[in-house]
Amino acid sequence: MTTIQQSMKSPAAKSQQQVEVKWNQPESKGYYRIGLTCIPAYQQAVPGQFVTLHLPGNLTPLLRRPFSIHRLIRDNGQVVGLEILYKVVGGFTEKFTRILPGDRIDLLGPVGKGFTVSEAYRKPAFVGGGIGVAPLVFLADALAESGLDHSDAVVCLGGRTADDILCTEIFRSHQLNVEIATDDGSLGEKGLVTLPLERWLASHRPDIIYACGPMPMLRAVSEIASKKRIPCEVSIETVMACGLGACLGCAVNKNEISGKYQHVCIDGPVFDPSVTVF
Ligand SMILES: Cc1cc2nc3c(=O)[nH]c(=O)nc-3n(C[C@H](O)[C@H](O)[C@H](O)COP(=O)(O)OP(=O)(O)OC[C@H]3O[C@@H](n4cnc5c(N)ncnc54)[C@H](O)[C@@H]3O)c2cc1C
Ligand code: FES
Repeated sequence: MTTIQQSMKSPAAKSQQQVEVKWNQPESKGYYRIGLTCIPAYQQAVPGQFVTLHLPGNLTPLLRRPFSIHRLIRDNGQVVGLEILYKVVGGFTEKFTRILPGDRIDLLGPVGKGFTVSEAYRKPAFVGGGIGVAPLVFLADALAESGLDHSDAVVCLGGRTADDILCTEIFRSHQLNVEIATDDGSLGEKGLVTLPLERWLASHRPDIIYACGPMPMLRAVSEIASKKRIPCEVSIETVMACGLGACLGCAVNKNEISGKYQHVCIDGPVFDPSVTVF
């Protein structure tokens, strides 16, 4: 059984604050990138952690919406802001596209348990499905900063079409190998993202597989990792309601050791699939 090691940083205490929007730009068809100011405590944020957002003065949607920290923005080494990569799917994210630089929004975070960043993982494989790529960029940034050699590491990105394949240049700037698969073959090879992953695994042995994307993709990746006995961490992006562990809205299945249900909002979003069934 794989044991998730402790992340090298202690997670930052969460805070709620009104922050300024620095930019909000289209990234691809239906995807945007928004830059926000934040307090220095985000220096301790761990890849895989998320924030919850509310648009001040808006009664709908009432509930805060969770978004992964996509990148930290630094000035002279100090964290001065954060970036979120988002896909437009409904009420909140549609309103979000109309937010302008200088507007203020309500930011709570950083929240949740993130990915393990460890010197034991020198050769990771990243697997991202669609918007699931968002936290993997922060993770790749953190791994690159820790001075590890990632020339033997791979990023496998999958999506429905070429529009869903994001951030390839950022990964390449970290000297990571990038493999792409799309359902319609409009970019990379035609098929599921597990195709390039399995091909990579036929000739390489990563120290760990990190994945974020739709549930069927996470299940398939976890199964592949389990068969090959490679440690794996998955970030689960379920629908959330309270965000506090009180409503069961984000429950995934039981932890095999404790026998308790796991909540994505307080126990995750990153899980070890050999321990938590989902
Ligand atoms: C830990 C975590 C991190 C996340 N990180 C990101 C991120 O970095 N970027 C990003 O774009 N999104 C992310 N999400 C998903 C994001 O929270 C939702 O897309 C957002 O809340 C939708 O709000 P909305 O009001 O626009 O859409 P809604 O009107 O609430 O929903 C529109 C449609 O999308 C479906 N939907 C809503 N949330 C999800 C979900 N999580 N998974 C699948 N279907 C969903 C609804 O069922 C509905 O059919 C994350 C979710 C979690 C739990
Ligand atoms: S969202 Fe309510 S328990 Fe997680």
